Amino acid sequence: MLRVAAARRVPGPRAGPSLRLLVRPQTTAAAPVAPLPPPDAKPLPPPPAAAQPAPPPLPAPKAPLPPPPPPPPAPQPTPSAGGAGSAGKRLKSFLLSTALFLGSGAFLAYAYDSRAGVHRWLLQPAFMALTEDDPELAHEVAVKILSANMGPVDCGVDDERLAFELWGKQFSNPIGIAAGFDKHAEAIDGLFNLGFGYVEVGSITPEPQSGNPKPRVFRVPESNSVVNRYGFNSEGHAAALARLRQRVIKFVNDYASVLPAELFPSTPSTAVAAQNFDPVTSYLASRDGSGAAPADAVGMPRSLHPGKVLGINLGKNKSSDPDSIDDFVKGVATLGPYADVLVVNVSSPNTPGLRNLQRKGMLSELLEGVVQARNLLPTSIKPPVLVKVAPDLDDEQLSDIAYAAKTAGIDGVIVSNTTISRPPSAGSSPVLQEIGGLSGPPVKALALRALSALYEQTDGKVPLVGCGGISSGQDALDYAKAGASLVQLYTGFVYGGVGLPRRIKDELAELLRREGKAWKEVIGSGRVKAPTTTDFDRELKEAKGELEALLKELAQAGSGGSGKAVPMTGGESAEAPPVVPAAAAMVDTPLPAPVAESLPTSAPSATPSPTAPSTPAPTPTIVRTAPTPKIDESLLAVPAQALLDEKAIAALLAPAEAQVEAGVKSEPSVTEKVEEKVKDEKRWV
Ligand code: FNR
Repeated sequence: MLRVAAARRVPGPRAGPSLRLLVRPQTTAAAPVAPLPPPDAKPLPPPPAAAQPAPPPLPAPKAPLPPPPPPPPAPQPTPSAGGAGSAGKRLKSFLLSTALFLGSGAFLAYAYDSRAGVHRWLLQPAFMALTEDDPELAHEVAVKILSANMGPVDCGVDDERLAFELWGKQFSNPIGIAAGFDKHAEAIDGLFNLGFGYVEVGSITPEPQSGNPKPRVFRVPESNSVVNRYGFNSEGHAAALARLRQRVIKFVNDYASVLPAELFPSTPSTAVAAQNFDPVTSYLASRDGSGAAPADAVGMPRSLHPGKVLGINLGKNKSSDPDSIDDFVKGVATLGPYADVLVVNVSSPNTPGLRNLQRKGMLSELLEGVVQARNLLPTSIKPPVLVKVAPDLDDEQLSDIAYAAKTAGIDGVIVSNTTISRPPSAGSSPVLQEIGGLSGPPVKALALRALSALYEQTDGKVPLVGCGGISSGQDALDYAKAGASLVQLYTGFVYGGVGLPRRIKDELAELLRREGKAWKEVIGSGRVKAPTTTDFDRELKEAKGELEALLKELAQAGSGGSGKAVPMTGGESAEAPPVVPAAAAMVDTPLPAPVAESLPTSAPSATPSPTAPSTPAPTPTIVRTAPTPKIDESLLAVPAQALLDEKAIAALLAPAEAQVEAGVKSEPSVTEKVEEKVKDEKRWV
């Protein structure tokens, strides 16, 4: 039985993975816990002092050294005014250094918190200005600072409205850092310390590759966006694997004393087994192939931060066959055991042929292969597999992706990567002419549109991760309402700096508080169902049925039924069936095409208006003698697709501000158009 219980909170060291597991310390005769060897089976540093054998005595020098010359006489202090002056000086310098020491200590304590204004208003702008000409250098420096755990820390507490569960994993908040920032899995803990609830590293390719020639990243400050054509610069699986293993070993060593002894990997007894023994695998993999791995049994995510989730994004080498899925399968097998979530990236615009994998047949084959490889992992908890798609997909491609996602049984879709388009909102900087993917606010409308469409097409059953242009709580909420269970950002972090995750979380919590809801309750809540052609046809059929029924009734009332003429007055008539006022209105109003033309009425234009106040109109009488009228089908055949134009869909799905930007706000939405059409048909009746 596990000894894990809610007994003691163990704060993690700031510099490394934190264990906030609630673990009851071993009070009874627990087996002694052997510390794991560090990576690559190097022995642990031996314990100091007592365990050390005494050092051998040093050999005596062969010849005695000549005695050192006598030291010069020390200056004698004299009781004079000069002595008081030097004491004063000493006091002054003591006070100064103390002030300096305390001041820098206070500053460091202040700057330790990522919310400190100095990051947002001083350090971040200075850093951006200094690296204006070399954004890639800024990127490298930022990663190095975070990987050395020299970055600040989010000292706030995540609001409980932000917590949720997805894929059986706990998230303390839904704000993630997207792939591309920490490409080589170097700064995982530094990023978690900034408050992200989800960190996605990568894209990582099987073999190391250098990517495209520099310069390959460009800032577009006028729209807070970025153009990049890195082209998957990656240190490869082996380098990333070494770092991921090192994290696990450090974690196990750091927390050996609080981990339940029976879950702790122990060295096998036989010499051969000991040679093949891998403490990391032993910690992460199920021992008998079916039971829970120690890490899973203790409920520790691969992120090594409870309530936080680690994603690994898999890429493909440029030299690999563009149609081959092998690179992704290798990625699953090699890096899968270290991931809470695996992401298949088929949408980078900077690797030739990669985006073709988004095509229906190929995507299904790829995803099925990846899911199969995932199922073979020796871990007891298999990481969910997500696919990351581009924002530039048309409706047909989106439905192909929805189909592939459903049939291959993947666990989610990330929408989206960078765009190859240049929306007007990106501005007019010459940098926008650079080849590469655009990221930041201009992507938001495109990604939201794609995400909403996928949410519809998967009936909200495939979890979606929203990404593109997120830099505020409102942005995150927009994505959630459109159907995103989780969101990620990258470019917002470039411009917003280290305090951004905390600011977004605070804004989001406040917005949710005003709505009286939690994050998990707003997912998909704001979607406007985009009508499909099928919906339209169904509504049209219903309206047509009603129309025919009414016309039939009218015809019967006029001729067939009683054989009596129906007086068509504006007032009530004892003999008049309930349809009469409507019929009267029909006669009064000049009927619009096309339905009107198909109605056999007696010269409606000659009929005076029953509501005209001045002329006491003679009671108009319409005698219907014609056979049941038929609707001219051809006139009803309005092409449904004509109503589903791109602009209308964008206006329907984009948030209000994007609509204003795009100048399409005044366009009626598709739903409005359909409703209006159905109303019109009823009005004509
Ligand atoms: C990226 N992105 C990215 N995505 C991915 O799956 N693998 C990668 O290696 C990279 N690399 C990368 C580098 C740079 C410099 C940028 C700006 C972006 C795409 C990124 O994860 C995200 O999907 C898009 O940038 C859209 O989100 P933002 O940036 O608008 O928040």
